[in-house]
Amino acid sequence: MSLHGRVALVTGASRGIGAATARTLAAAGARVGIASRSGENPGVDGALAQPCDVRDPAALEAMVAATVARFGRLDILVVNAGVGAYGPFLDLPAADLEEMIDVNVKGALYAVRAALPELLKSEAADIVTIASEAGRRGLPYEVAYCASKFAQVGMTSALDHELRERGVRCTSICPGGVATDFAMGHGRTPQMPQLAGMMSAQDVAEAVLFVVTRPRNHRILEIAFRPVTETSWG
Ligand SMILES: NC(=O)c1ccc[n+]([C@@H]2O[C@H](COP(=O)([O-])OP(=O)(O)OC[C@H]3O[C@@H](n4cnc5c(N)ncnc54)[C@H](OP(=O)(O)O)[C@@H]3O)[C@@H](O)[C@H]2O)c1
Repeated sequence: MSLHGRVALVTGASRGIGAATARTLAAAGARVGIASRSGENPGVDGALAQPCDVRDPAALEAMVAATVARFGRLDILVVNAGVGAYGPFLDLPAADLEEMIDVNVKGALYAVRAALPELLKSEAADIVTIASEAGRRGLPYEVAYCASKFAQVGMTSALDHELRERGVRCTSICPGGVATDFAMGHGRTPQMPQLAGMMSAQDVAEAVLFVVTRPRNHRILEIAFRPVTETSWG
């Protein structure tokens, strides 16, 4: 199904999963706004890319306004910007703990708050949150990250209840390990053997495309998927 005529805003789209998602939505016909601290466009023709730190509500409001000014509307919000740091909880630097809460929790809420007035004007709106397996179960050495990702899943589920009948579908995507720059130097290293078995950013982007191209008579609440090499928990 084509996304022609629909406009998407993807947070954290200069690299990794967000960049793959922006490229994939654009290839399906959407016009795309790309938000990140750097403001870099990862090679999406015709996209609007500008600096936007999701910790700053005013920057998100400016990003939404610029996207609507350029493309005329907003139909899809992909809440993707996120950071992670792994390790024994007592060893986690306070700055890392605060950044995970500020970016993953507050940044997600601020993104929705900034975009929702425009999404409510659309006849076909979607909010897709890139949460994590860490938002579905507690994982060792991921205490603060799990707290932030459970918050995202809770936010998205609550939004679904609140917005379903107003035409906004809300979905959590919960991948296991994806090979990106994520958490590099904060619990992941380029040499770690697990990276080889991880999924790709494109795998997640295709899940987003699946969600936003479903017929409007139904909604996908959650997609969870993991590499076959990843341990089964619980
Ligand atoms: N990789 C995994 O294994 C995995 C698994 C499950 C879920 N996830 C989730 O997927 C999402 C994307 O992760 P990724 O793997 O693509 O990570 P990544 O490669 O590190 O990319 C993170 C993106 O977020 C942006 N970003 C970081 N802080 C930001 C901020 N304060 N404001 C705006 N943008 C910010 C970065 O751009 P700038 O540096 O330019 O700001 C970058 O574009 C995250 O929410 C993560 O929790 C990842």
